Amino acid sequence: MGLTTTKAPYIEQAVSNGEMYIEQPYELYSADNHATWQRLYARMQDHWARYANQRFLDGLETLCFEPTHVPRLEDVNRFMAPRTGFRAKAVSGFVPAFDFFDCLSRREFPTTITIRDGQSLDYLPEPDIFHDIAGHVPMHTDPAFAETLVRFGACAHLAADMVRDMSDREERRRRLSSIQNALQRFFWFTVEFGLMRDASGQRVTVYGSGLLSSYGEIVHSVESPTVQRYPLQLEWVINQHFEIDHYQPLLFIVDSFDQLYEQVATLEAWMKAGKLDYVTPGWRDMSQADVESFLEASLRPR
Ligand SMILES: [Fe+2]
Repeated sequence: MGLTTTKAPYIEQAVSNGEMYIEQPYELYSADNHATWQRLYARMQDHWARYANQRFLDGLETLCFEPTHVPRLEDVNRFMAPRTGFRAKAVSGFVPAFDFFDCLSRREFPTTITIRDGQSLDYLPEPDIFHDIAGHVPMHTDPAFAETLVRFGACAHLAADMVRDMSDREERRRRLSSIQNALQRFFWFTVEFGLMRDASGQRVTVYGSGLLSSYGEIVHSVESPTVQRYPLQLEWVINQHFEIDHYQPLLFIVDSFDQLYEQVATLEAWMKAGKLDYVTPGWRDMSQADVESFLEASLRPR
């Protein structure tokens, strides 16, 4: 069993105890779990060399993953924290949106510790350690990207602060749902599925973690003529619904990480100006638990 996604007794126990933040019980990884990491890591090498953003490749070098073993979070943090202050923090599974963004604002990255079943390398019922550590964490070694995440995470607090004094509960919930939708969509189309045009303007590279951890979609995202790729436009992104269960048909391209940071600043300004209060309602991209987490945060005293 080891620490295989959806089949780990250690995780089931933590969830039934209501523990969101946990330890990484490294000795529980089975030989199969390590073999799965090895296969996933090995087969991405050529794809990363060809499609990944240079900052990601630099991050991989900084982190010194062992190709043959699931990484220990403490080792990851030993290499990462001195660069940007970011730390991977083990979680038992789903982290509601507010708590997730709050962690980012504190330079903590909620990290899944289970690994997908080796029988189905491409099928992912939920995030796993390969997605979180190999897909996300190398980007967190880059100072500009790390600052972008911190500022983005702080937007969740701003959202809670902005409605704190509202007396109308229903309006408070509606407004937070809208803002949360906007934030979630921004995160999805940048941190998870972002593309970047390189300085020459000729080439597109991948910095989104959902793409960087997917053997099939990283190629598809850059090469497929069926994917719509557009320069990132904030007003579009915050109103654009997405689906999580298939390759993304629509992706957005930024020119630089400076531009990405500026977009977060604009997102923040728009939130303050009330421009995120009426984004297109969600369809399947919104979970009740995510909205509740924002609502709870807004009810806490400052
Ligand atoms: Fe992710």
